[in-house]
Formats: sequence, structure tokens, C-alpha cells
Amino acid sequence: MALFSSKQKPSEVSVVPEHIGIIMDGNGRWAKKRGLPRQAGHVTGAKVFRTIAKHCEKRGIKVATFYTFSTENWKRPQEEINAIMNLLREYLKESLADFKKENIRTRFIGDRSMLAPDIQELMHEAEEATANKTGMILNIAINYGGRAELATAIRAIAAKVKDGTLDPEAIDEACIEKHLYTADQPEVDLILRPSGEYRLSNFLIWQCAYAEYVFDEILWPEFTTKDLDNALAVYAGRHRRFGGV
Ligand code: IPE
Ligand code: IPE
Ligand code: MG
Repeated sequence: MALFSSKQKPSEVSVVPEHIGIIMDGNGRWAKKRGLPRQAGHVTGAKVFRTIAKHCEKRGIKVATFYTFSTENWKRPQEEINAIMNLLREYLKESLADFKKENIRTRFIGDRSMLAPDIQELMHEAEEATANKTGMILNIAINYGGRAELATAIRAIAAKVKDGTLDPEAIDEACIEKHLYTADQPEVDLILRPSGEYRLSNFLIWQCAYAEYVFDEILWPEFTTKDLDNALAVYAGRHRRFGGV
């Protein structure tokens, strides 16, 4: 595979990740810096999400997964959780109109059973409305945790073994992948996390086995399309070996 210098201009970058995972972090700190409630950071962060999702599609990325709410985020104050859920509602209503213009397929990953019924319904509508699009897949991770995803997959596999439709000897990596939310999608090539935190926080743990990581100090509400292009340029300069030489 050819190597590309990170000094290249984004327009010259030819190695684009097929699947990018973005951990949208730093909303709370951004708001605090401005003397605003944390919720204000989520409002701005939601706008940035729309811009960056569209830019991913423009750059030819096939799958973009955005970490929106983790299985651990229920530990936050109820007021903040409510604000995030209301933003999600708002986004879903708007996106039904807004994303119709885009060639983007929206999917949600995570356990939706814990979300309000009207949100679940809106999620279903958004998925249906974009199911026939041919462009980028936009995975929105809500009440998502990598460990929970694996536990769900293992339960489904065990049920098949129990009812005799799956031979335990047939459980290989491909079989496990088929039971993940990201079944039939390429594995993650690049994880991008702004806000100066250097961890995965239970995001796509299986899918990231050979991912590249780009960390950034910028807080998510300040993240721009140029920052995404810079991260893509850094990625294009990486030499991936996958255990080979
Ligand atoms: C990310 O921003 C959004 C969610 C986790 C919902 P944070 O809310 O984690 O912002 P910080 O990390 O506290 O600044
Ligand atoms: C990860 O961010 C989850 C999302 C961005 C949705 P957190 O802010 O929850 O992660 P930690 O607590 O810093 O690891
Ligand atoms: Mg955070």
C-alpha cells in the first residue's frame, strides 16, 4: 500500500478510511469554559455532528459511526440525560427532512429498548426513510456499549446452539461479526477522538482490533470540517501492517 505524507493537502489524500468511528467528546467542558450549563455544549455538539456527518460522506467514507450516548452515560444527572434525549428527538424530526436531501443511510446501533417509545418510533422512521439510499452508512450509537454488544451477540449465538440451528464448531470470527450491530459493514479503520481524552470508552471494541487512532485536543463543539480533513491526512500517512511486514 502506498504511503502518504500527512503534509499532503486533504484534496490529495487518496487513502480514505472505509469506516470511521467518531467519539464526540468535550461538550460539557466546552460549555463550562463559557459559563454555560453542560446542556448548551450538547446543543452545539449536535449541530457539529450534522456538519461532520455530511463532510464524511463528501470525502468518500463508506461508513461513519458516531458515539452519541453510551451505556455508561445513564450515570449522568437526570437533567442532562433528559436534555440529550430531547436533542435526539429534535434531531430525528429535523433529519427526516434534512437528510432526505443527502444520499446517506441512517442506522442506529445500541439497545433501543431503554429509550422512550416515541424516540424508538422516530428512529425506526429515520431508518426506513433512508433505507434505499446508496451513499454512506451513518451509524448513530445510542445506548451503545461494546461489551453490551458482545453480550447481546453471545446470547443470540447461544440461543441458536441451544435450538440446534448452530453447531458450536461453526462459531468463528465471521460468525461473531454477523451477530454484531455492524454486521456486513467493514471493520473500523480510524477512530477519531477530540477533547484530549486518550481512550476508547467502550466504543466498538471488537471492530477496532486493527483501527488507527487520531486524538485531538479540540473540544467537539469547536470541531470543524478542516479538523476532519487533518485527521484523514494523518490517517493516510499511517502504515498499517495487520500483523504482516
Ligand atoms: C460528549 O461530551 C457527549 C456525551 C457523552 C453525551 P461530554 O458530555 O462527555 O463532555 P465532557 O467530556 O464532559 O466535556
Ligand atoms: C464517551 O464519552 C461517550 C460518548 C461520546 C457518547 P464519555 O465522556 O462518556 O467518556 P469518558 O467517561 O470520558 O470515558
Ligand atoms: Mg466526555
